[in-house]
Amino acid sequence: MCGIVGFNGKNKAVDILLDGLSKLEYRGYDSVGIAIKEKDIEIYKAKGKIVNLKEKIKDKELNGTCGIGHTRWATHGEPSEKNAHPHISNDGNVTLVHNGIIENYQELIEKLHKHGYTFYSDTDTEVLANLIDYYYKKYKMGPIDAINRTMVRVRGSYAIVVMFKEYPDELWVAKKDSPMIIGESKDGMYAASDVPAILKYTNTVYYINDMEAACLKKNKVVFYDLNGDVIKKESKKIDWDISSAEKEGYEHFMIKEIHEQPGVIEKTIHSFINDNKIVFNNIDRDELKKIDEVYIVACGSAYHVGVCAGYIIEDLSRVSVKVDIASEFRYRNPIFRKNEFVIIISQSGETADSLAALREAKKMGAKTLAVVNVVGSSIAREADYVLYTLAGPEIAVATTKAFSTQLIVMYLFAIELSRAKKQIKATEYKELIEEIKLLPDKTKYILDNEVKNIQKIGDKLSTFQDAFYIGRRLDYAIALEGSLKLKEVSYIHSEAYAAGELKHGTISLIEENTPVIGIISQEDIYEKTISNLVEVKSRGGYILTISPKKIDISKVSNYEIHIPETYKYFYPSLIVIPLQLLSYYISVSRGVDVDKPRNLAKSVTVE
Ligand code: F6R
Repeated sequence: MCGIVGFNGKNKAVDILLDGLSKLEYRGYDSVGIAIKEKDIEIYKAKGKIVNLKEKIKDKELNGTCGIGHTRWATHGEPSEKNAHPHISNDGNVTLVHNGIIENYQELIEKLHKHGYTFYSDTDTEVLANLIDYYYKKYKMGPIDAINRTMVRVRGSYAIVVMFKEYPDELWVAKKDSPMIIGESKDGMYAASDVPAILKYTNTVYYINDMEAACLKKNKVVFYDLNGDVIKKESKKIDWDISSAEKEGYEHFMIKEIHEQPGVIEKTIHSFINDNKIVFNNIDRDELKKIDEVYIVACGSAYHVGVCAGYIIEDLSRVSVKVDIASEFRYRNPIFRKNEFVIIISQSGETADSLAALREAKKMGAKTLAVVNVVGSSIAREADYVLYTLAGPEIAVATTKAFSTQLIVMYLFAIELSRAKKQIKATEYKELIEEIKLLPDKTKYILDNEVKNIQKIGDKLSTFQDAFYIGRRLDYAIALEGSLKLKEVSYIHSEAYAAGELKHGTISLIEENTPVIGIISQEDIYEKTISNLVEVKSRGGYILTISPKKIDISKVSNYEIHIPETYKYFYPSLIVIPLQLLSYYISVSRGVDVDKPRNLAKSVTVE
């Protein structure tokens, strides 16, 4: 969604802002703008991409060392220069950028109209600039007082960076339910909605909580609570390295991140295994022993990890599992058992629905675990327990490496829970861990041996308009991910079906040459899926299969992709690699902007 960068320090702000915004492009945006403190605050905006803004300011002498920048993803008001941020109060006293949505903005506009304010844009953000200005002038108690009064008055979500005309050497930051970090380096202070924007300059960051504010001076940051009292915060180090946020010779981030998977899977496995035992620092077996039911809640691909985990946890630990989409869960009024354990899976740790689901679960008294990639994100901070995936920064909008590391964490959770519940013996526990440790090499094997074949088949399938993915149990769970990956990056309509469900309606859509991707890894039920594929083939379907070689599908399949063998629970980690590659190459073949598919945002921080 929208991206924010702010800088106050010794260097030219314009370069840092544009560079930072370019690192946030992956979040999706449709207009861009900056405000720089020169003699006065100067604002420049452009519709479309950052290059359009660069073109506009190329002849300007912008030497200011304090400024704010924003990439906007339109919610209220069409993408246009008028609606692009930064927004400014009526007399230019307050300039700001904002991520999030102000829900009561109409009511606030009416209030401000009565005090003579006028509005030039269609946004909810402009009201913030004028409301801060209103309180600033009414109470005459300075920036923190005006910001705090505004925070109390508005409803919705926001992360803002504000410049006050009368405080030219300060940036002010505040947030509620939208991500924001503060960076610190010897050259100055940074504000950003996401780590990659400032990783080039610093890895020392502060996390600001909801309903807190901060003042960024040139060489320090001061935090305030809602009473206006100063609060102390410790900085944290982020151990992502800058190269992981660059393309490093790959044509797209998506393919680079696909190829990073063996490495990040290995890192994640080793961060939780010590001496052949699973170590979840803060969750011990006694805690796990108490669990009566697991509820897994997430969005999109992270939800698909949850569906995979649901099958594995139930089968292995015999603990009942419910899996739900966060946007449904939060309004469902779910029924909890006595010792309910809610797991929220999220790459960004900022997805609005997942965060709301977490809060709902906590309110209802459940213990909560976050499986999250971004350290210090809201979901990570608010859950009772957190297990980090070590995928590093994921830039491509379509998740690949975060998905794979989430699977690993969920396998380990399932195994540890089963051991705590005494459902598996020590030998089985050890064997499962040994098998997980082989997954990095097995994923690498697929990447080393299958890319060319999959590229070829990708080219062939790129002209189709529809595709179907079928499988049973875990194969169905991973079919969901294959199908989502295809539609989001190639714009081909696709659906995933439990193989046995196909003939209850959907099979009527199969025509001559409709691609049907059959996923066949679960040995005890593979014959049933093969029967379903035969039914599809006899209606003209073009069958592509993904399976370990030992399962013979040559008579049914038009095109076979083979993966190495593993234990039944861990096949999703191997199957997903060809599925990702297939989507990637189909997308490239169709000329789609793979890393930034239309209408999508990396981190969905609004409902
Ligand atoms: C698909 C994709 C999305 C995310 C979903 C949740 O490729 O990336 O479906 O999985 O938006 O995002 P996080 O994991 O950040 O909560």
